[in-house]
Amino acid sequence: MAALTNISLARGAPSLDIIAVDDLKAAAQSAFERDAAGTFAYGTSAGYPHLLEWIAAKHRVEPDRTMATNGSMQADAFLFQELVGPGDVVVVEAPTYDRTLLSLRELGAELLAIPLEPDGIDVAALEVALSEGARPTLAHIIPNFQNPAGCTLSLAKRQRLLELASEYGFAIFEDDPYVELRFEGESLPTMLSMDQADKVIYASSFSKTVCPGIRVGYLVGPAALIARVRKTATNTYISPNMVAQSIVAEFCHSGAIERSIETVKAALRERRDATADALERHLPDARFVTPEGGYFLWVDLPESSDVARLEAASRERGVIFVKGTDFLIEGGESSLRIAYSAVPPDQIEEGIARVADAYRELAGAAA
Ligand SMILES: Cc1ncc(COP(=O)(O)O)c(C=O)c1O
Repeated sequence: MAALTNISLARGAPSLDIIAVDDLKAAAQSAFERDAAGTFAYGTSAGYPHLLEWIAAKHRVEPDRTMATNGSMQADAFLFQELVGPGDVVVVEAPTYDRTLLSLRELGAELLAIPLEPDGIDVAALEVALSEGARPTLAHIIPNFQNPAGCTLSLAKRQRLLELASEYGFAIFEDDPYVELRFEGESLPTMLSMDQADKVIYASSFSKTVCPGIRVGYLVGPAALIARVRKTATNTYISPNMVAQSIVAEFCHSGAIERSIETVKAALRERRDATADALERHLPDARFVTPEGGYFLWVDLPESSDVARLEAASRERGVIFVKGTDFLIEGGESSLRIAYSAVPPDQIEEGIARVADAYRELAGAAA
């Protein structure tokens, strides 16, 4: 019997075929020629100046409100280190990015998990918690094509969150690596751009629009806070990777990033459609909200389903995905996250057919 091809619906990473390798080569070549001195030096913890200029222009802020880091994971870590201590209450979405939960737990934060709805965090539930005495220092929000749920925060909820942040004195961490990957519908303004009270610290990344291996992300926030975070960064690594940031700067200023985003969006839209279509045909018990962009789709199965067993049975069939429980403090036993970013449509179809086969076998054994 021929060996089964392994299919990963687990990793939120682009496949090699949608990475702009030739444009990256050209960007490296011109970065090395245009500014060899700046590219090959240590630099400062703020990041590569030509990249900060691009980020500042994009977000219509002064460069002293920005810093570029080794991936946005590093930006998250610095920010949490700065703002969160043991016992501090931090609002998180439920479900949310598993690494956020891990980092906050490691710092001893008390997590206040607020459920997600198809239009983002349930702000009414947050208001109830606040009116009952919860006093968070920070709310971590993934506003667009959320990881893992795929949903997007509505404009009204963005506005309300800003009001609550001012009223109750907490900061909003707007963690936004997927913002450029909208396939349909209207783009919404960032909370950063709507903020009148210096409540928002914004992070984004080039991992999802250029490539993750380059490890470049960034922070935008109030100048005083950014100055403090830059200091932490200096003490941590002197400076981030200048070679990578110089290449990304060239990639952005030359316009190659726009082409790359178009390539990624076109491919991911097709993969999203293949996922939704395969789920409808092979796994009619699956409930999901079709995301308008991004990398992920969240699937709820009937409550009696045991996704831990489904994951093991799918793995035996050469397909991996991430269990819902990884993204929650409690619950999620009958849910899973599908990342459609890393595989072509025919493999998505095959992968979901195998998961459905595992699901039917487990349901048959339970009957
Ligand atoms: C919500 C969120 N924040 C941060 C990151 C980290 O991204 P980076 O590769 O920029 O470190 C990810 C990656 O999947 C993510 O989904």
